[in-house]
Amino acid sequence: MEIVEYDIVIIGSGIAGMSAAIHASKSSKKGTKIAILSKLHAMRSHSVAAEGGISGVLYPGQNDDSYELHAFDTVKGSDYLADQDAVELLVKNAPKEIRFFEHIGVPWTREENGDILFRAFGGMSVKRTAFAADKTGFFMMRALYDYLTGTEGIKVYHEYYITDLLLDKNRVAGLYGFNMSTGESILFRTKACIIATGGYARVFGFTTTSYSSTGDGIALAYRAGLPLKDMEFIQFHPTALVPSGILITEAARGEGGYLRNSKGERFMKDYAKSKMELAPRDIVSRAIITEINKGNGIVQEGSGMKYIDLDLRHLGKEKLDFRLPMIREITMKSIGLDPAEEPIPVRPAAHFTMGGIHTDINGRIIQHNLREHVHGLFAAGECACVSVHGSNRLGSNSLSQCAVWGRLVGIEAAKVSSYGNYSSISALKKMESNASKNLNKFIDRAGEYSPYDVRDKLQNIMEEHMYVFRTEKGMKKALKQIKELKKEASMMIVEDKGKSFNTNLRDALEIRNLIDLAEVATAGAMKRKESRGAHSVVEHKERNDKKWMKHTIALQSRQGPKFEYIPVKVTKWKPQPRMY
Ligand code: FUM
Repeated sequence: MEIVEYDIVIIGSGIAGMSAAIHASKSSKKGTKIAILSKLHAMRSHSVAAEGGISGVLYPGQNDDSYELHAFDTVKGSDYLADQDAVELLVKNAPKEIRFFEHIGVPWTREENGDILFRAFGGMSVKRTAFAADKTGFFMMRALYDYLTGTEGIKVYHEYYITDLLLDKNRVAGLYGFNMSTGESILFRTKACIIATGGYARVFGFTTTSYSSTGDGIALAYRAGLPLKDMEFIQFHPTALVPSGILITEAARGEGGYLRNSKGERFMKDYAKSKMELAPRDIVSRAIITEINKGNGIVQEGSGMKYIDLDLRHLGKEKLDFRLPMIREITMKSIGLDPAEEPIPVRPAAHFTMGGIHTDINGRIIQHNLREHVHGLFAAGECACVSVHGSNRLGSNSLSQCAVWGRLVGIEAAKVSSYGNYSSISALKKMESNASKNLNKFIDRAGEYSPYDVRDKLQNIMEEHMYVFRTEKGMKKALKQIKELKKEASMMIVEDKGKSFNTNLRDALEIRNLIDLAEVATAGAMKRKESRGAHSVVEHKERNDKKWMKHTIALQSRQGPKFEYIPVKVTKWKPQPRMY
């Protein structure tokens, strides 16, 4: 087996992972070795699918905007569950990131005078989302990838799958996995490790996320005994294309699109009178499902799915082609519909997971004792719960989060690796030997269940009971079903015994991760007896700040997840009723 040594290893190659690599390299001494490990080709990471833009107050004072207002919008959007010190850090640093991406080649859409143009996004008081048409993530990824390809000391391992995070007591020691192209195992020995592997919205079948959004890094941390935070909060994006779930960016409403029910009414007037279509996502998603439940949805021929209309016709072809060209292309190519002529059929789909690995404000991963951090171990981007989004993220705050914490943890990891040592090779080899035995057992067992059937069952359970509205009875049923499904998952069969590009093995490993995370999310949701942000429980309609203004912490145990709670950090903004 190959053993390689890097000062810093980053798992995940989206915007957070690549930003971390670049900034780690910039702040390290010459000769520092950095590796990025990606289960895909790096440029296929899910960040490329980000469409609408990145938030940041680039011109404070203009349009009455300020860091303070961005922070307030974010805290209110989070339904007061975000840690306010982290939110303040986000908004102060986001503008620097927009400039950084400008310098490395992102073609921001501009005003005629050359200034970067901003568009409206849900829950934001003013226009503060910078964008590159509706392909923002793609342009940011391309700029990062170009930049790091020319940076000495960074090696990208495309198509390597990591199965184990190896911890030596309270410090990171390495990672174990295999090369997808050869099937050969590999051990990465490192002084510092950054997890930047994205979210787990693939616990749902109807999702805007790519097939790769299986929460691998979060599951690695959980199985290594590390705490997860706020996993019950899963965001549903209001406007996913029906029937596929492809994202129709919120920018479509930011540019002036309307939502209409089967009667042609702009129903958002009944749910968020002042913000209308630009209310935060949790509110718009609930409004859409309520309309559908009232019988005001439209049934799609063929799929039988119920949807409402996203009407962009009044924007006109010219504006659509300038601001939303990819949306026009997507709808024309995938359902033969020109949004300049007809409304787009949409309904809410799983889009983003607010919960993740419990970190402190600097992205350092916290140990199971909830007091100290694991030396040399960091998380950034969607897999990390810092927490800046609380129970509901505002659109366009995710790219800023990835960039801000990507830089921050890159710099921190560089510091750790400059004075740290590798942990002992004998301890590492022992851990590797266990990891290798477990992987071989997983491949060789005489299983009886198809991983794809297990995945389909899981996604059906989640769609039925953990979607936009949840009920006590439904969550209880879901948890019971997930626990039963876990037994099937422990007897999944990997039929392909081949070495090269064994996607059957990778899929089975990803599905194992999804099941663990779905269990944590559902069990955590069942315990939270209130409605807050994206967690909306029919029996507990109101937010309960007295009892539930706290973060959920989950730790793995033999019996399933064990829960503890920690306080939310409040700096300036006391909870208020959330009116839009
Ligand atoms: O709708 C969108 O373009 C998504 C943006 C986001 O999730 O931040």
